Amino acid sequence: MQSFQPPRRILMGPGPSDVSPRVLAALARPTIGHLDPQFQDLMEEIKGALARLFNAPDHACVPLPAPGTAGMEAAIMNLLEPGERAVICINGAFGGRMADMADRAGAEVTKVEFDWGLPVDPATVEEALKAAGPVKVLAFVHAETSTGVRSDAASLCALARKYGALSIVDCVTSLGGIPVDVAAWDADAVYSGTQKCLSAPPGLSPIALSKRAQAAITARKTKVRNWLCDFNLLMSYWGGEGGRTYHHTAPINALYGLHESLVVLFEEGQQAVQVRHARTHEALAAGVEALGLKFLVAEAYRLPQLNTVIVPDGVDEAAVRAHVLAKWDLEIGAGLGPLKGKVWRIGLMGASATPWHVRLCLTALAEALDAQGFKSDSRAAVAAADAKLA
Ligand SMILES: Cc1ncc(COP(=O)(O)O)c(C=O)c1O
Repeated sequence: MQSFQPPRRILMGPGPSDVSPRVLAALARPTIGHLDPQFQDLMEEIKGALARLFNAPDHACVPLPAPGTAGMEAAIMNLLEPGERAVICINGAFGGRMADMADRAGAEVTKVEFDWGLPVDPATVEEALKAAGPVKVLAFVHAETSTGVRSDAASLCALARKYGALSIVDCVTSLGGIPVDVAAWDADAVYSGTQKCLSAPPGLSPIALSKRAQAAITARKTKVRNWLCDFNLLMSYWGGEGGRTYHHTAPINALYGLHESLVVLFEEGQQAVQVRHARTHEALAAGVEALGLKFLVAEAYRLPQLNTVIVPDGVDEAAVRAHVLAKWDLEIGAGLGPLKGKVWRIGLMGASATPWHVRLCLTALAEALDAQGFKSDSRAAVAAADAKLA
């Protein structure tokens, strides 16, 4: 065996995004014990920073020791017991994953499905809630990474309250890129991941749980089916009050990385970070359109951090991705499910949301399209992007 030396890459796919040198340096700091008093101080600081980032001062906020899917699994397995009703909104791949998990939890699942590329429609969801009888959980994805669509979290959480359900909100791609306001939404279980707009490596899943959700977990008649993510056990480790009980060994260096990514984010300022995502998206959109390409998603629902661009007729989707990777070290994403071969997914997440990334991507894309016989003007595209950044 030899040491692994990863190639240089510029990450503009659906995640992971570029990790800043500061976060990489933090990851390489010496490992200390997870019960070391100084590490426990770090855990407390991370909890506080996550509560600030989610705007969830009254929620319990902790990072789960596994990627975004663990947040999804924790929310579903903790809040649902066998036989309880879950209404799951599906407008892309990740809503579908939630429905599968709820089914595995033994819940009765009502799926409310929408075309890929459209947001979740609250009026349709309300009809489903009315028809479903008592509902324990309403779950949806705020920022659907498979399509690049934002759904209206405030309205959907309000519907959950109106019908006496707990809300589960997937903010894996939204947190740190667009406003996530857990307090204003009055949401119950909100989870994210570190590898998107937080620009830390994959492997951790911040989650926020309301007091209502915590009470529902305490009142369960059956044990949570997933030991690692059982919130009551987890909080005996992360809770801090009355000392910590060993539960698992925290991924110590990964938590250094998350901590540093939060320091970096708050140094720039949450609002400034969101403005940067919005501006770079506008620049990329202007450039993409100048190349003669079109977006899948209507402007009103587009995510700045995940741009879904339609592959023009006669162009080989995979060949374009292979070209930009080989010639420019640039990773962009493919379509999933029904969008496979039909779209590219271009991420502008966290440290990858800069004017430099936009210019590089437009130039590389134009070259790759040219190689496929699709004529476009890269200079005009970069000029259109620059005009938005001026
Ligand atoms: C919206 C959404 N939810 C959940 C996940 C799962 O996260 P992970 O791949 O980190 O487990 C992803 C990953 O892309 C996602 O985009």
